[in-house]
Amino acid sequence: MSDARKVHIKSFGCQMNVYDARRMADTLARDGYVETGRADEADLIILNTCHIREKAVEKVYSELGRLRAMGTEAKAQGREQMIAVAGCVAQAEGKEIIRCAPSVRLVVGPQNIHRISELVARANTGEAVVDTEFAVEDKFEQLATPKPEVTRSRGISAFVTVQEGCDKFCTFCVVPYTRGNETSRSVQRILEETESLLAQGVREITLLGQNVNAYHGRGLDGRDWTLPDLIARLAEIPELYRIRYMTSHPRDMTDALIEAHRDIDKLMPFLHLPVQSGSDRILSEMNRKHTRAEYLQIVERVRKARPDIAFSSDFIVGFPGETEQDFEDTLALAREVQFAQCFTFKYSPRPGTPAAVLSEQVSEESKTARLYRLQALIEAQQRAFNLACVGREFDVLFEKPGRHPGQIVGRTPYLQPVPVYAPQSLIGSVARARVNELTGYSLVGEIVADADSQSRQSFTAEASAFA
Ligand code: SAH
Ligand code: SF4
Ligand code: F3S
Repeated sequence: MSDARKVHIKSFGCQMNVYDARRMADTLARDGYVETGRADEADLIILNTCHIREKAVEKVYSELGRLRAMGTEAKAQGREQMIAVAGCVAQAEGKEIIRCAPSVRLVVGPQNIHRISELVARANTGEAVVDTEFAVEDKFEQLATPKPEVTRSRGISAFVTVQEGCDKFCTFCVVPYTRGNETSRSVQRILEETESLLAQGVREITLLGQNVNAYHGRGLDGRDWTLPDLIARLAEIPELYRIRYMTSHPRDMTDALIEAHRDIDKLMPFLHLPVQSGSDRILSEMNRKHTRAEYLQIVERVRKARPDIAFSSDFIVGFPGETEQDFEDTLALAREVQFAQCFTFKYSPRPGTPAAVLSEQVSEESKTARLYRLQALIEAQQRAFNLACVGREFDVLFEKPGRHPGQIVGRTPYLQPVPVYAPQSLIGSVARARVNELTGYSLVGEIVADADSQSRQSFTAEASAFA
């Protein structure tokens, strides 16, 4: 296969993009493309882009500049490299990209990646190609399923997109415009894909969606199933040890989903639940459709159902009109919840979104100062959470060899990496490990029993002490 064509895919942004990149690689494999981690040796380079904040878009253009120089070098050696732009910038900017970066031969939106083979073939023969029309057909139906002999190993933990798009229209966010209306995949298709991943050795699935808990796909009985229905069905598969889902919207945290956290041991006790702000006024301006009190009630209800659960979240500081008091309310909310981890962002005005044209934009200095204050608080919470894990035992799902010989690395239910000295044969299984020490953000541990166990964590009392 040394003369096989090579594709290099670089993804920016969220896990949905990581997943799409894999599916594009699977689909291109049918045309004989093999994946390479090196852009310089690739015949086809796909930048799978993100439009969520201005910085994310800047990264794409600087990458395109770099690639153009690389392409010129390749040409001097008699090789043609094709550059394609996929993802949310492709959707948002369309043919503008080719005007600004003429080296780009193909622009393909996230809804159209199932046509990647045909589009690459067209771009190879003639004019630059732009395909950002929302496809009427279901992209997931047409993407190739992973073939173990041609695709790289999926590892132990894999993503499966179950829902795409968003109908929530938060006033700061581009996702409803770049990913379109909310749609859900059928349970049948999700099960098929999960089975094929399990056959390749995957043991943990993260169900992905921009609004994953709004899932409402066609169930096995022909009726629409909800996310907890889907999770319950997946939990019946013996080879699947762990189930996660992201990203959730507080509005869609139904009683049934909260009960799933109580009843389904395979559903990991870690919930990413973006709140964005702790101020009711700002939440309303953001069109988040929930109040501060409602968010706190959800946290309380989930903790009651599953006392060992830990939370992570997303925050935006400096949304237009955010006062010092609004920001204080955000800090207070974070103090009240005690997060295990969070992503914090400075508000970035996005073209075409309602908040971008609000008059009271917050100064860059205030945004930076608030970001630092919030980050300091979140880092302290993360450290407290990790420190509380020292001296405790966890079920760890081992994923790969560690950095040092003889070491393997796995993750706790809370996604913290734990390196231990143990046989490689444990990779792909769950073993009990005691955490002895915290170095940076990594817990260092040792195996206490190497039997597969899916028992509930013994973390309950201490975790709720965070609340
Ligand atoms: N669907 C998810 C996440 C979408 S994007 C949700 O509903 O929360 C991931 C995160 O990026 C968001 O949670 C938000 O915190 C951040 N984000 C989105 N638009 C942004 C903007 N214009 N400026 C800064 N951060 C933004
Ligand atoms: Fe964006 Fe809001 Fe939809 Fe999340 S819920 S993707 S933040 S519009
Ligand atoms: Fe970015 Fe699109 Fe994901 S804008 S965060 S890649 S949905």
